[in-house]
Amino acid sequence: MGEFGGYAIPAGTNWLPPLYLLHRHPGFWSEPERFLPERFAPGREGARARFAHMPFAAGPRHCVGESLALYEMLMHLYKLARHYHLRHVPDQPLELEAQLNLRTRHPLHMKLERR
Ligand code: HEM
Repeated sequence: MGEFGGYAIPAGTNWLPPLYLLHRHPGFWSEPERFLPERFAPGREGARARFAHMPFAAGPRHCVGESLALYEMLMHLYKLARHYHLRHVPDQPLELEAQLNLRTRHPLHMKLERR
């Protein structure tokens, strides 16, 4: 039996911190709902609590695919954005779903237009 924040956690329990809430917690982030990519600019790491941002979890069981995932995302964006404008096709309601990671509830269709 373990304990977290006053709650007893039986051995063998699958437990994941609510990353969606953590990443929007006003105690850790100013203007948490705003899209401010400069929060993640190099050198800004020290401006926030150490574990305030952990999309790949943390500790000995953190995501083994983290480097691959970051590289893949960078490459997809780089390869696509160089050649195409991406336009959202609003044929589905745009709703977010917080699972292990944050995703859209419905498919997010995009139209590619060559630059
Ligand atoms: C954006 C992409 C990804 C995100 C946000 C993500 C996130 C996470 C998180 C939060 C965990 C911890 C789960 C837990 O504690 O129960 C995890 C574990 C894991 N991830 Fe990822 N992941 C991503 C991509 C990948 C990729 C590309 C791979 C493999 C090629 C991968 C392989 C794994 C494995 C094997 C674990 C379990 C590690 C362990 O239990 O020791 N992930 N991931």
